[in-house]
Amino acid sequence: MGEFSLAKGHIYIARDGSRAECELPAGTSVMLGALTNGVEGILAECGGAAMCATCHVYVQAPFDSRLPEMGEVENEMLDAVASERRTESRLGCQIVMTDSLDGLVVRLPDRQN
Ligand code: FES
Repeated sequence: MGEFSLAKGHIYIARDGSRAECELPAGTSVMLGALTNGVEGILAECGGAAMCATCHVYVQAPFDSRLPEMGEVENEMLDAVASERRTESRLGCQIVMTDSLDGLVVRLPDRQN
C-alpha cells in the first residue's frame, strides 16, 4: 500500500457564514472536496477542466500566498465569474491540496452563475 497523506481542516465558509470542515486527501482539489462532502455553493459544471468558472472561491490569508501562481487559462476564466472577482479569487478545481495547505480556508461567493 502506498503512503497516504491527509491535508486536514479544509474549511468552506458559505455566504451565510455557515462553515463546513472537511478532511481532504492531498492531491484532491478544493472543488472535488466540496462536491464529495456535500458542500453547497460550488457547481463545477465543466468537471474540473477550468472551462466554466462555477467553482470560484475566495482563498483566505495566509493560504492565498501559498498557492502556486495561477495559469493563463485560470486567470482568463476568473474574468468570467458571476460574483465579484477579488485578489484572493481562484478556481477551486485548480487548487490541489498539499500538506502546506493544511487548514486552508476558502469563502464561497454569492453565486456561481
Ligand atoms: S470546475 Fe469548471 S472551472 Fe473549475
